[in-house]
Amino acid sequence: MKFVRTLLLALSLLLITKPVTAWEVTDHSFKCIKHMKQVENFYVDNLLGNLEGTLAVATAGQGVYPEGSVLQLMPNEVMVKRHAGFSPATNDWEFFWIDLTKDGSVIYTRGAVEVNNRLNLNCFGCHVKAKPEFDFVCRKDHGCDPVGIRDGIWTALQNTDPRCPGSDVVSAEDQQALAELGAIVEELTKSQQAPAQ
Ligand code: HEC
Repeated sequence: MKFVRTLLLALSLLLITKPVTAWEVTDHSFKCIKHMKQVENFYVDNLLGNLEGTLAVATAGQGVYPEGSVLQLMPNEVMVKRHAGFSPATNDWEFFWIDLTKDGSVIYTRGAVEVNNRLNLNCFGCHVKAKPEFDFVCRKDHGCDPVGIRDGIWTALQNTDPRCPGSDVVSAEDQQALAELGAIVEELTKSQQAPAQ
């Protein structure tokens, strides 16, 4: 009898203390960037239904984003705020590179400090330079090194997100911006391949 009581007590303690962390991020967690909420030049969402909490921090321009927050500037790069304790080094952000087609998103790579984008540049390495009050969010002036990409280029990338209806009709302005991006990426790739001195 005593054993059963101890067992029950142990089980109930386990239930009480078990953290509620069971939510997953899958290919289906992501959508057309323009169906998210726009704040300045980037877009936000919340996978746990707390869009209000996410918007509050995004519009205040500083503070700690609530769990479930999704941030995107470029359609392929995503930051998702996971549960407390997920990754102290990244303030619980998970970084993603997602590949996109008109049929949806496929996660190419994901994780914390180790994640690189398709150009082999480390997400954390840049975003960690944001001052602490900005919770890893770079914007133009939060302490990260500038990437040298003007807003018109971000807008063109957003307008041509293949997941969004009508994205295959590209304006002359967006075409021009995407050509500029092509040149920037080519330069970046060249400098990465240059032999070490
Ligand atoms: C070379 C440095 C660099 C790398 C690498 C980088 N970022 Fe960024 N990121 C920035 C800068 C700077 C901005 C702000 C750009 C702007 O608003 O013009 C930014 C903006 C963003 C934003 C919009 C919110 C914000 O912080 O302003 C998200 C989301 C984001 N990046 C995710 C990622 C993810 C995910 C990766 C990796 C797959 C990544 N970034 C790689 C520098 C970088």
